[in-house]
Amino acid sequence: MTARIIDGKAIAAELRHKVAAEATRLNAAHGVVPGLAVVLVGASPASEVYVRSKSKAVAETGMRPFDHKLPETASEAELLTLIGRLNADPAVSGILVQLPLPPQIDAHKVIAALDPDKDVDGFHPLNAGRLARGLPGLVPCTPFGCIILAKTVHASLAGMDAVVVGRSNIVGKPVAQLLLVEDATVTIAHSKTRDLAAVCRRADLLVAAVGRPEFVRADWIKPGATVIDVGINRIAGKDGKPRIVGDVAADAAAIAGALTPVPGGVGPMTIACLMLNTLRAACLQRSLPPPDIGC
Ligand code: GUN
Repeated sequence: MTARIIDGKAIAAELRHKVAAEATRLNAAHGVVPGLAVVLVGASPASEVYVRSKSKAVAETGMRPFDHKLPETASEAELLTLIGRLNADPAVSGILVQLPLPPQIDAHKVIAALDPDKDVDGFHPLNAGRLARGLPGLVPCTPFGCIILAKTVHASLAGMDAVVVGRSNIVGKPVAQLLLVEDATVTIAHSKTRDLAAVCRRADLLVAAVGRPEFVRADWIKPGATVIDVGINRIAGKDGKPRIVGDVAADAAAIAGALTPVPGGVGPMTIACLMLNTLRAACLQRSLPPPDIGC
């Protein structure tokens, strides 16, 4: 059997179209154009690529991008001042501070300074707390994208045995919380988990978010399981050229029932969900009903 490949690129494109249509409606009905401020401190090439693609997606969705670049040497106070300005600016619906930040800046302090209603990454402790309580709020983009992809395979995730490998604040923990909201039975596994292979083999739905190339082996996968691979790992290919691989070994496609490819799986969903969160934030700030996107 060969796994069904979950086409994240196509599903993300469809979501972005829906967001663009809802943004147009919001503008026509209320004269509101959502705006996303993306803040980049320093000049890491990987972050520059992410930031550029985020701003491009914002413009393509009919929203307004605001790019802010601070030098690598910027102080925490400078960044906090900028965030204060963006919090107060009514044209800015969402604020994203690209991580990681240089060592002189405490990321926790910066995230806590964001207006929670503009926190389109869903990283603010208030939004993390809302998610833990099952209350509405802005939810982290990558985990949200994982759930949307899983639901293209299963109409309901209720009662499924879901195993999340990885416990980061950005992916592992929030994706586990979202799976609970969907009524899955959730296990969070990590580097200290005993017999990780056996734990993974129990999963009807496996989410791999460890950030290690092909860490999850094909024989850890229950035949027919749905596998969501969050990894984006750059490795040297056989020809010496860099190659992107996921957290799941490529031969898992022979065992799984459905699988997200890398690239072209979860990655494109993150940006599409960021667009959705920016639109949601714009509605939230004006006490308008949330956009009707069907997810
Ligand atoms: N760096 C890597 N992933 C992310 C993300 O999802 N949000 C932000 N702000 N920075 C990141």
